[in-house]
Amino acid sequence: MIRKDIKALAAYHVPDSSGMMKLDAMENPFSLPDDLREAWIKELAQVEINRYPDADMQGLREQIAKQEGLKAEQVLLGNGSDEIIQMLLLANEPGVCVTPAPTFVMYELISRWLNRSVATVPLAKDFSLDANQFLQVCAREKAAMAFLACPNNPTGNLWSEETIVKIAQGFRGLVVIDEAYAPFAERTHTHLIAPNVMVLRTFSKLGWAGLRLGYLLGDADVIADLNKVRMPYNINSLTQTSARFFLQHSDVFKKQARDICFERKRITASLMALETIEVFPSQANFILIRVADADSVFAGLKERGILIKNMHAQGGLLSQCLRITVGNKDENNAVLAALREILI
Ligand SMILES: Cc1ncc(COP(=O)(O)O)c(C=O)c1O
Repeated sequence: MIRKDIKALAAYHVPDSSGMMKLDAMENPFSLPDDLREAWIKELAQVEINRYPDADMQGLREQIAKQEGLKAEQVLLGNGSDEIIQMLLLANEPGVCVTPAPTFVMYELISRWLNRSVATVPLAKDFSLDANQFLQVCAREKAAMAFLACPNNPTGNLWSEETIVKIAQGFRGLVVIDEAYAPFAERTHTHLIAPNVMVLRTFSKLGWAGLRLGYLLGDADVIADLNKVRMPYNINSLTQTSARFFLQHSDVFKKQARDICFERKRITASLMALETIEVFPSQANFILIRVADADSVFAGLKERGILIKNMHAQGGLLSQCLRITVGNKDENNAVLAALREILI
């Protein structure tokens, strides 16, 4: 009944976080200001949920396009950027998909669902990416597609512009520059958009993880083709209405992102002061650290009610690594205090 390889897969595991300080999934720690919440609820009350959502979402795509200096025809919307990764892998011509390693796990997972093979290019010890090596693997595999998470998850670093440009311009297949962490990074890459180069974004990390809304920016003809594999009505009415409303208040979320970057800088410095931790510089809303015994530090934090992500089981460059989402000031202070207790 079910394909053998699917049976052999483990389902994407989301750990139970009830009652915990949740710093494992790169969510924005700030809740909505009260006045904004009230105005939003009034908008939601108008939604006709007996009707299917707006299928074409021209208005929402125009709002997003305007903010990016592009046209609405260059915007594709997905139920989270995960859904767009699936659409890309579904519509792209057959062939190998190349990714750096380690990187965001969904590129490989969705490829497997779709029976597509993946070739990986290992990052260096400092998590830098060798563009020549990447292009060599693309050529060797006669690859059809490549994903570059910029900044990369789970390492948090942003590869040099030179590296990204070299790959974007040197590979003839489809290059997807995944900018899930753009709100926290010093640079973005929409200027590289070309018929084979697309930029993927999400609102999840900016503060709307519960809405599930991602978008792809690219060449209008390629977007039109990808739109053919988009599920009808993939973005529900409540999400559409919320997004249209929140985009008119984007200053609130931009300010929150700045506050997160400020906290990131503060906790990076405090973590660096702890001798037994190796801290990797981050341009995202999380920080990757390496400790002597990741499993016991993870367990120690959990005992203290703090849930982070233990990357150790992935092995290789992620051995003894933990990924901590940047929280609000109190949460970050709690993490720092707990780490001091556990490690000293
Ligand atoms: C690099 C990267 N891309 C895409 C996503 C998926 O985001 P979402 O499906 O919430 O839009 C994530 C989530 O962690 C991510 O780290």
